Amino acid sequence: MYNTANLDWVGRQLADLAENQRIPKGTAQRVLVLASLWCGEPISGEQLARNLGLSRAAVNKHVAALREVGFNISARPGVGYVLRALPTGLPPELVTFSILAKQEIGARGAPNVMGLPYYYYERVVSTNDVARALAEGGAPHGTVVLAEQQTGGKGRLGRRWWSEPGKDLTFSLLLRPSIEPRHSGLLVLAVAAGVAEALSTDLGLGARVSLKWPNDVLVDRRKVCGILMEAAIDMDRIQWCVAGIGLNVNSHPDRLVPEVERIPGREPPVSLADALGVEESREDVLSSVLNRLRLVLSELEHNVEGCLQRIRILDGLCGRTVEVRTAEGGLLVARGLAAGIDEDGLLILDVGGAIRCVAAGEVTVVSWQEKPKHRLGSVEL
Ligand code: BTN
Repeated sequence: MYNTANLDWVGRQLADLAENQRIPKGTAQRVLVLASLWCGEPISGEQLARNLGLSRAAVNKHVAALREVGFNISARPGVGYVLRALPTGLPPELVTFSILAKQEIGARGAPNVMGLPYYYYERVVSTNDVARALAEGGAPHGTVVLAEQQTGGKGRLGRRWWSEPGKDLTFSLLLRPSIEPRHSGLLVLAVAAGVAEALSTDLGLGARVSLKWPNDVLVDRRKVCGILMEAAIDMDRIQWCVAGIGLNVNSHPDRLVPEVERIPGREPPVSLADALGVEESREDVLSSVLNRLRLVLSELEHNVEGCLQRIRILDGLCGRTVEVRTAEGGLLVARGLAAGIDEDGLLILDVGGAIRCVAAGEVTVVSWQEKPKHRLGSVEL
């Protein structure tokens, strides 16, 4: 956990990130000012300047810039600066600090780059479109584009994605994973597993969290997060991949989706605030998710089996009777007992004793009543 005694370590991480062009130098300095004020103790401008190796004028300028993006910092003569309140938005300074504060303080090696560079917008059509353009322009693995509002948020299968400005998290993560293209089906599941682990472990939702193949995260069997993956894949490598993540944090999504777009018979979506009964701090949720994604995606690159294991533990469909259709209300692809996820990320179905693997589609759970588990090959059912 971060405290101001860790300032040296944070300073080194920030210097490294700035040198590697993950964050602008000015942002790195403002994050350092923020880190110095974090514990809420007063600190004089002179002391700050001395500690951080900056001029007094530079400290004043950075404090003014932090106030500009919504930090409430008071200044009293003879007392110093005090951090009173955080912004309601998610400016780069707050997100960068939150990412670093969640890391194992003192850890050696390269700093976390999942989430940096970080592009923050008030309003865009779709963060996936912005991230795609950045990918095509050569932006690095780990880049994040986050918007408070999307005027054309995209869901899977041509649907819209609805979220409440300032209340939820809508962002896209650019990945350039070193994995074989045949494992690309696992990528969306790995991203879903990273989000799910953040919710179950860091937010304490535990076993209430599960995955619904191929791209949904559920809490109490209701959708809390959807993922839209877009990628450019060559014969032998994944050039880039954009994982668009819509996570309901503090909205009431059951009221957000227009009547005409609701899916009859489907449980309404849920938010973390609905599930936990209290509002969550979005920067905390975002940095937990990004830190979990760093771990899970690195495991996918170095230990596919281990990553698959994580995904299978979270699989909420296994043992249920399901229907897979081309789209909601579309053609029936298969109906059977969900029997796990194979090593390429396909859904395994037991269709009257015959095994079928499905690569894509929309799943509806016909019955949540769990069937007795049995073992099929290497997959435990
Ligand atoms: C789905 O469940 O259908 C996938 C929803 C994905 C929504 C996110 S919000 C951020 C990113 N930008 C978009 O336009 N869509 C994704």
